[in-house]
This record gives sequence, C-alpha cells and structure tokens, in this order.
Amino acid sequence: MAEVVIVSDQDAAGALVADAIVQLIRRTPDAVLGLATGSTPLATYRALAARIEADGVDVRGVRGFALDEYVGLPAGHPESYRSVITREVVEPLGLTPELVRVPNGDPAEVQHAGADYEAAITASGGVDLQILGIGRTGHIGFNEPGSSLASLTRVKTLTEPTRADNARFFDSPDDVPMHCITQGIGTILRAKHLVLLAFGEAKADAVAAAVEGPVSASQPGSAIQLHPHATVVIDEAAASKL
Ligand code: GLP
Repeated sequence: MAEVVIVSDQDAAGALVADAIVQLIRRTPDAVLGLATGSTPLATYRALAARIEADGVDVRGVRGFALDEYVGLPAGHPESYRSVITREVVEPLGLTPELVRVPNGDPAEVQHAGADYEAAITASGGVDLQILGIGRTGHIGFNEPGSSLASLTRVKTLTEPTRADNARFFDSPDDVPMHCITQGIGTILRAKHLVLLAFGEAKADAVAAAVEGPVSASQPGSAIQLHPHATVVIDEAAASKL
C-alpha cells in the first residue's frame, strides 16, 4: 500500500519532495535520480533548484535517468525529452550533463536502445528515488494501459489520448510523434523509492485506480502497489476520488 500525502498545492508538494531529495543527496552524493517529464514535476524541480542554491548542496556527482523519450524527433528539438530534461532539470539544478541519461529515440538506434538503457541503469546501481507523474489514461512513463507489469525499456506506440494531451507542446497535433521509448513498469519498480505526483481533478480517476484499484496492466499506475516504498503526493483535487 502506497503512502498518500495530501498537500495544499504543487509548491507544497515541491518543497516536500525537494527536501527528501536534498536529504538523499547529502547521504549519497552520487545518488541516482529517476526523472519524469510533463508539467507535473516542474514545481518540484523549481523547489529543488532553490534548495540546492540556498543550502549550497553539492550536486556535481548526482546521476539521473529520464523515464522516456519520443522516437524520431530531430536532435535538439525543443520538445524532445532530452531538451526538456536539459532545460528543466540539468541546467537549473546545476547537474553534470554527462551524468544524466535520456533513452535514445534515434530511429536508427532504437532497436538496441532499450537494452543499452537497462544495462546503464543496472550498472549505476539502480535508481534511488524515482519521480513519477501519471497520465489521464493511467500511464506512468509512457507505459500505456496494457503494458506488462514486468516490462523493460522498449519502444511503444502512443495512444491517441496521450498524443492529444501532449499536442499542447507542439505546433500542430500531427507533429506529436507516434512512438516513444520508455522505461518499462518492471524497470520503474526496481527503483528504491517511488514518488508519484499528481495535481488537479483531471488526474483523480487515475490516482484512485493507482492507489486503490486492483493491480492491473489496464491501469499501469496501479503497479505502485507492488512496490515496498511508494509515496503518492497529491493535492485535494487529485485525491477527490480516493
Ligand atoms: C507524459 C509523460 C509522463 C507524464 C504524463 C503526465 O506523457 N510521458 O511521464 O507523467 O504524461 O503529464 P503531465 O504531468 O503533463 O500531466
């Protein structure tokens, strides 16, 4: 059973999670962070950047693995998750760029990119703290409903609701890639601590299914119930169907 923490807003969640991450980095200067994209974790990244600056936390040894990446965006595309992670996480936090990995979404290399990524995570000793958002469809990373609970990093096809949700980041909905490469649910479950964030009423059904529903591949978020140390940090609106 995941621990559920209900907070007043995204900034309160950010302060809470930033504190946990700062404590982790103080204990383990080469800690491995699992990084999510999407709008949900942005307040947490902002709070963490402020804490690092205010407390003078040395983050030069901190390592990171992003959850997922689009397949087929040109290198340097502003909405590639490599660009987003650089812009929202690596630069504001002052992380060492070479220590932060994102799955390789180059179509020419994507066939072995999943296995390469799994090997890199294993070689790192594993993710210490994994930040997760959750999609309206219940997806974590880009593991859409139907993804095996034992899945590893691999190429997936994006569902239409997820492409529609992510269209706001692109000039036209048609520009949203059809495919992605994502850590699997099995990969995510290997992290030592999961922190799932969700805000707003649009996430309430997905949160209820993740926290209280049956553990099922039709609700990927429900996999957190299989994890011995999962924390769900949500606002009142996201908690409204619990
Ligand atoms: C995206 C990402 C997920 C994210 C989710 C929710 O498509 N691949 O990692 O958690 O959808 O996005 P948001 O936080 O913007 O609601």
